[in-house]
Amino acid sequence: MLDRLEQLQGETLTQIDRTASSAELDRLESAVLGKKGELTTMLRTVGQLPPEERPQVGKLANEVRVALEAAFQARRAALQSHELASQMAAGAIDVTLPGRRVPQGRLHPATITLRQIYNIWAEMGFQVYQSRDVEDDDTNFTLLNIPPHHPARDMWDTFYTTQKGVILRTHTSPGQIRAMHEYAPEPIRVILPGMVYRYEQVDATHEMQFNQVEGLAVGRGIRMTDLKGVMIAFARRMYGAERRVRFRCSHFPFTEPSVEVDVEWEGGWLEIGGAGMVHPTVLKNGGYDPRVFSGFAFGIGPERITLIKHAIEDIRVFWANDLRFLEQF
Ligand code: DAH
Repeated sequence: MLDRLEQLQGETLTQIDRTASSAELDRLESAVLGKKGELTTMLRTVGQLPPEERPQVGKLANEVRVALEAAFQARRAALQSHELASQMAAGAIDVTLPGRRVPQGRLHPATITLRQIYNIWAEMGFQVYQSRDVEDDDTNFTLLNIPPHHPARDMWDTFYTTQKGVILRTHTSPGQIRAMHEYAPEPIRVILPGMVYRYEQVDATHEMQFNQVEGLAVGRGIRMTDLKGVMIAFARRMYGAERRVRFRCSHFPFTEPSVEVDVEWEGGWLEIGGAGMVHPTVLKNGGYDPRVFSGFAFGIGPERITLIKHAIEDIRVFWANDLRFLEQF
């Protein structure tokens, strides 16, 4: 037994030195010092030895245990620090590297233009009124003095829904009716921005959805000169202080008289939208007495403004969600 104890100590010390990982060391430790380990088993049998052998064997067995425990501990510490070092080397964080940039979103070019437009009209006292995208046929057409089957309906190619009389608005003008119903008989000064939808063949200059910004002022004694004044003020804020503005006679069913508004642009004229004095029938449909109230309205196309400002040649890039385009703004 004494021999075996000495032998066990020698073998185990050699094995400890050869272990390559702390997991391997654990396995070896439990094979020797564990509950069913060889040394533990031997220690348990000391009691069965003849009394005269017990002290010597017991003493040696304990010395072997103490020596082995110390050896396991030392080896474990060495292995662990080695393992830590190699883990650090493998998953190393180089604190001297520059940080990774977090991608940052930015405003869509249409949003940038819309916000400029809101600001300019806000300074002239116009509030933003959000109307709805899904309209009924009456509000989109009939109440705007465009009765069913009237040829003027051909000006707007319409997206119909499966529900009779429910359509996508073809222009922001029906918002005029909604605002009037809400405010009548109080005076109104609002802009109504939003997406409009047209059943169009899409190409470089036509989209089936685009933004419009409608404007509406209703009150007592509002005249055509007021309309001209605010349109000129807007054009100069948007395009430049010395810009010339031109009003051309036109026709819209919901205004009388009607005009189209152009601004000077690179030696020519650029149309920025339609406008006019609110037609008496429309005022009446909105709940205002046309003998007492008058008003003007306008509708401008912000996408055209953005196209021109940034020399964009294809309107389809607006809603194509191509980051290569959007990241330029
Ligand atoms: N709704 C017209 C369109 O989409 C634009 C327009 C013209 C709006 C004249 C107006 C207006 O308010 O007075 O073509």
